[in-house]
Amino acid sequence: MTSSTLAQQLREAKHVVVFTGAGASAESGIPTFRDALTGLWEHFDPAKLATSDAYRGDPALCWGWYEWRRQKVVRAQPNEAHRAIAEFAKRVPKLTLVTQNVDDLHERAGSQDVIHLHGSLHSPRCIDCGQAYTLPLTSDALPEDGSRIEPPQCSACGGYVRPGVVWFGEMLPEDAWSSGLAAAEKCDVFISIGTSGIVYPAAELPLRALGHGATVVHINPERFNISSREHFLQGQASVLMRGLLTEAFGDPLVTECFVE
Ligand code: APR
Repeated sequence: MTSSTLAQQLREAKHVVVFTGAGASAESGIPTFRDALTGLWEHFDPAKLATSDAYRGDPALCWGWYEWRRQKVVRAQPNEAHRAIAEFAKRVPKLTLVTQNVDDLHERAGSQDVIHLHGSLHSPRCIDCGQAYTLPLTSDALPEDGSRIEPPQCSACGGYVRPGVVWFGEMLPEDAWSSGLAAAEKCDVFISIGTSGIVYPAAELPLRALGHGATVVHINPERFNISSREHFLQGQASVLMRGLLTEAFGDPLVTECFVE
């Protein structure tokens, strides 16, 4: 499929689902999970830090790692891909944005009602009683390299505070999953951006959309295997999403100038 065919389908679509993974935030400087990276990610396997057992086994290591990531997010800015998705939502009759990302860059780019399948770095809670915990936005004292930080303790029960993300082996938030699934099964175009597609059940969404007759397009700089019924646009999310927006609906800035 060429980008102009997709642009045409987007113009005609009644319901578009955009499904994002770590690659959508990569150009904002947030490291992805499975690319070759520098710093902490080189030395630790995320799958081993992102579990309840890992956290209980070494809370300071895990909390330090999550605080390092949270600080990166707080300092990052949304990129063109985040902004183009928010623009698309204003131009199609219905757009559902489902993300695996635990950052808030979609919201900061103007997207509303984002479905977070894997929770958020910004909603920590007690690991024992579940009480929500309010974190200061950022701290200059936090180390860049994610060294060990003792987690805060819950004011209700004294348990450790944990990040509000979904760890391996945990269920996805039920509302998020059922809303994401329902959208995938109803949409006519499903755009999957910057995900390696190997973490289930999230990775099931494009397949569900395909099974219900949607056009499914993957946007990624790295090619991977897809079925003959799916489509692939190879390149960076920012470039391709901005290009698609312009091709489908014209340059938003130019349009706004004409309106004025
Ligand atoms: N534009 C688009 N895609 C990109 C870009 C970019 N600029 N840069 C990298 N990518 C792609 C990579 O090629 C890779 O396919 O983004 C993908 C990122 O894959 P992962 O790191 O595996 O991230 P993701 O698919 O979101 O991981 C899923 O796994 O660890 C868990 O809960 C975590 O939500 C996460 C889930």
